[in-house]
Amino acid sequence: MSGAQANAVETLRWCDGHLEMIDQRVLPAQFRYLSYDSAEAVAQGIRDMVVRGAPAIGVAAAYGVALEALRRRDASPSEFTGLMERAFAVLAASRPTAVNLFWALARMRLRWQALASESLPVQAQALLDEAHEILAEDIRVNRALGAHGAALLADGTRVLTHCNAGALATAGHGTALGVIRSAVEAGKRVSVIADETRPFLQGARLTAWEMVQERIPVTLITDNMAGFLMSRGEIDAVIVGTDRVAANGDVANKIGTYMVAVLAHRHGIPFYVACPTSTIDMAIANGAAIPIEERAHAEVTGFRDYQWAAEGVLVRNPAFDVTPAELVTALITERGVVYRPNRERLEALTKATA
Ligand code: MRU
Repeated sequence: MSGAQANAVETLRWCDGHLEMIDQRVLPAQFRYLSYDSAEAVAQGIRDMVVRGAPAIGVAAAYGVALEALRRRDASPSEFTGLMERAFAVLAASRPTAVNLFWALARMRLRWQALASESLPVQAQALLDEAHEILAEDIRVNRALGAHGAALLADGTRVLTHCNAGALATAGHGTALGVIRSAVEAGKRVSVIADETRPFLQGARLTAWEMVQERIPVTLITDNMAGFLMSRGEIDAVIVGTDRVAANGDVANKIGTYMVAVLAHRHGIPFYVACPTSTIDMAIANGAAIPIEERAHAEVTGFRDYQWAAEGVLVRNPAFDVTPAELVTALITERGVVYRPNRERLEALTKATA
């Protein structure tokens, strides 16, 4: 792997010419890596949620491009171009909401275009190097935003988080959980209240697992308990990740986040969103224009092979919702903390050099 800082959880790793990804569908009951050697296979892994979480999806897609270039490097140049275009298309179609996927693909395309005069093996190796760099950069960025966020948390803070915005959702350290890890590393006693996160249970299965591994105190609740705990004064701050921030500061994140933001507002609890600046999409004016993925009904009617809902019932399964900017206390990014995000502040942030 590239020279990234050592991490407790290696969500994605390069191993003997293959990409390996932790199979997040079976955690925490099983810990296993699955191996990938083509763009098509990586796209399938993203679609099936072997890998999930906005930054991790972006890193996986970058390796998908590199893998395709490596396995096609003996093709003719014109065949190679066609096969690479297909790889970009198949990866872009894997999941719609996380902008990090499209950000990573655009970066890989730029790198590829700059290599036009090189031989195909040289192009393939350079694309692999770029994927390694995207992975390493993600960890550096998470550590930087973690440090900015940690400064906002007083000793003893009880943080509610929704979904999993941890090491598993990134190349390492995490965004929302990165802030918590950084605060703990700085010697603060921070505890976590993890929303279960229906229907895919990223909170119960992944966030709880990550925190337990590192002995960071974590209490699991079902999603409908958050309001009660807030009303009893048991939550001091909310920190979540995001899949895409619109230019006006509206935030798309895992379904249920909006509900938490409304509750936090009602109870005067700060609602922080931690993300790399690559998650900010200045091309999208507001949250209404963010594509929201609808997933399989079976995720709502049951879990894995077990179905508990009545056969024939109508089902909705939007995987994300949008929290309006007015409910966001601050965005925590690697370039600093942006209070009350709006277009003007996000323009200034995204134009600033890192
Ligand atoms: O459907 P998922 O599990 O990919 O959704 C993930 C989230 O909503 C995360 O909160 C988001 O990607 C931020 S990850 C640092």
